[in-house]
Amino acid sequence: MSWALLLALCALLLLAVQLLRFLRADGDLTLLWAEWQGRRPEWELTDMVVWVTGASSGIGEELAYQLSKLGVSLVLSARRENELERVKRRCLENSNLKGKDILVLPLDLTDTSSHEVATKAVLQEFGRIDVLVNNGGRSQRSLCLDTSLDVYKELIDLNYLGTVSLTKCVLPHMIERKQGKIVTVNSLLGFMSVPLSSGYCASKHALRGFFNGLRTELATYPGITVSNICPGPVQSDIVKNALTEEVTKSVGNDGDQSYKMAANRCVRLMLISMANDLQEVWISDQPFLSVAYLWQYMPTWAFWITSKMGKKRIENFKSGVDADSSYFKFFKKKNS
Ligand SMILES: NC(=O)c1ccc[n+]([C@@H]2O[C@H](COP(=O)([O-])OP(=O)(O)OC[C@H]3O[C@@H](n4cnc5c(N)ncnc54)[C@H](OP(=O)(O)O)[C@@H]3O)[C@@H](O)[C@H]2O)c1
Repeated sequence: MSWALLLALCALLLLAVQLLRFLRADGDLTLLWAEWQGRRPEWELTDMVVWVTGASSGIGEELAYQLSKLGVSLVLSARRENELERVKRRCLENSNLKGKDILVLPLDLTDTSSHEVATKAVLQEFGRIDVLVNNGGRSQRSLCLDTSLDVYKELIDLNYLGTVSLTKCVLPHMIERKQGKIVTVNSLLGFMSVPLSSGYCASKHALRGFFNGLRTELATYPGITVSNICPGPVQSDIVKNALTEEVTKSVGNDGDQSYKMAANRCVRLMLISMANDLQEVWISDQPFLSVAYLWQYMPTWAFWITSKMGKKRIENFKSGVDADSSYFKFFKKKNS
């Protein structure tokens, strides 16, 4: 066999291995490289003061548990104080933190007039904020034509303006110290769009534009980093709490969670992103990850595929079953 043929075979084998790895990937390639070769959260994130919004359930709750094990001081915010107290108790049970290391700070992201006072309360308690994790938010399950404008306003007020407002309160402190991490839990729907979530997609697209713009303004402060975390479907209360046609209505049930990524895996990858100051990460199982790459690099194909899948999603929704259920029956139910 000639050397050229041997080299070509090796190249083909390498390509096949990479393809297989991609088919099994649950994050973008930069993130998975950082997981393999990058800095560990256990080295980078200890002794920090981390403020997590949306800490009363789902991704934020799991983040509180994993961060508490790293020994950080935590500020837990959301509207439901009793749920935050529950999360705090579990953090204390499962880590070496003491009661004084965790501040429960109830906060409504839509009440922007309260954000300055809340920021002062954190600074008074801990003297600094090393990481702000903008995680609180709600999704949407309703068709545009049936949806009141108030729902669109609520999604923008909460997901976009609430997050911008809190960031603006914390930023002067980070600029004074010339260091800090601003981490925002965005979504794959921050750059893709699907039916039944037009207002949610708009709010997450707006967030991505804002934080990418902010990062360029902070170029003279290399110690301050801005990260957009974009998960695909993750097990949490997001569907249950999703807004529907009216601002007073939410979906009220979890739908099918079996095909979604477990929250602990999503949060582990988030911590790796934070430890490595990655500017944007995609955290998702297949096939969403491949669709995300299509949206980024081949939008014409992405529009076509999303319209095809979207039809099924709308049909499911109209017939009262979980909007996403049917096109996942072919995939392994790994988290059920
Ligand atoms: N799960 C997914 O599939 C997925 C995918 C992509 C992105 N995300 C994003 O991940 C983030 C966390 O969502 P999740 O999946 O963990 O859902 P979740 O379980 O419903 O958690 C949402 C959190 O946001 C808080 N929140 C809602 N409205 C608020 C308000 N007005 N003020 C302050 N906090 C508020 C909730 O607490 P209270 O009700 O106590 O206020 C709760 O702690 C969201 O930004 C979501 O868009 C989730």
